[in-house]
Amino acid sequence: MYKTKILATGHCVPNKILTNDDLSKMVDTSDQWITERTGIKERRIADLSKGEYPSTMAAAAAKEAFSKCNLEPNDIDLILFSVTIPDMFTPNTASWVQKHLGITNNCACLDINAACSGYLYGLTVADAFIKAGNFKNILLFGCELTSRFNNWEDRSTCVLFGDGCGVSILTRAEENEASEVLGTVLGCDSSKGEALILRAGGAVKPITHEVLENREQFISMDGQVVFKSAVKTMTSQCAQLLEQTGLTKDDVTWFIPHQANLRIIEAVAHRFEFPKEKTIINVQKYANTSSASIPIGMNEALNDGKINRGDLVLLTAFGGGLTSGTVLLRY
Ligand code: ACO
Repeated sequence: MYKTKILATGHCVPNKILTNDDLSKMVDTSDQWITERTGIKERRIADLSKGEYPSTMAAAAAKEAFSKCNLEPNDIDLILFSVTIPDMFTPNTASWVQKHLGITNNCACLDINAACSGYLYGLTVADAFIKAGNFKNILLFGCELTSRFNNWEDRSTCVLFGDGCGVSILTRAEENEASEVLGTVLGCDSSKGEALILRAGGAVKPITHEVLENREQFISMDGQVVFKSAVKTMTSQCAQLLEQTGLTKDDVTWFIPHQANLRIIEAVAHRFEFPKEKTIINVQKYANTSSASIPIGMNEALNDGKINRGDLVLLTAFGGGLTSGTVLLRY
């Protein structure tokens, strides 16, 4: 069986910054409320008129990753693309990325829809393919245009999200390398699925004038159900994975939780006594970028020289579905 390693990473966020003060001019909210309840100060918003959408943000992020390694886009044999609002329903967004990157080898292209947990679902799928020998070089994206599902009249959700993209180039590790994905746990609690839902636009409820009037084309959420489930599930999956791999919380060098809300991050980190210095936090700058948040956090930590080869990194996420995923890897 082969081993999987993260060869290189990249990210891309739109230039446009929307601050809490900007939002307080759009809905009845304040910088103080948003900061106290979520830790968020600002978020990035894509500009469609400048051609910023999932596949173009992804191509920019991938360029950074390729600039850091000796692979070319045509060495990729699978593109996995986690996204909630794709470029369009079909062709899938992974195939648009293939086109933007000039890949001409007809590599496989697959979109993943697992909301905020999508990058960790993708990492688990990629690891299984690489271990089994199906694919050698995989481009894995977590990329989200949350501003397209945001109801900009609903203060209870629109303050929480931001746009962005993170990418990892995954490859087969040599036998003598320490780098590998040590274990993964995935789950989904569909009994609470309606706590975070985008009802319209699919087969069940096509877009009609009535749908638009009721603003059902946007996301709606029961924040407290999501909050409690997020803390409980991420905590139990991290404990399960550490036990499964025979490692302890003290072995973990870096903790990278999904950046939904500072209070959720702190509650999970507190359970494992992970201090702030070993927890990657960027929710204040980008808000919740859904499945992009972990790969963006990882790329920033690598660029800052925080994460080094051989470090043990624990990643955990939770989101719509209600899906969840946790991965432990030796970088
Ligand atoms: N500004 C000002 N007041 C607000 C705002 C706002 N933006 N939003 C809600 N309020 C009001 C409410 O109307 C309510 O007023 P009331 O008491 O007069 O009825 C009051 O603030 C308290 O609202 P709650 O919903 O009880 O506030 P809570 O402390 O639960 O915080 C929050 C809300 C931040 C959404 C929290 O529940 C949360 O973070 N949940 C997790 C949601 C999440 O992260 N979702 C992302 C997707 S899933 C994921 O990524 C994990």
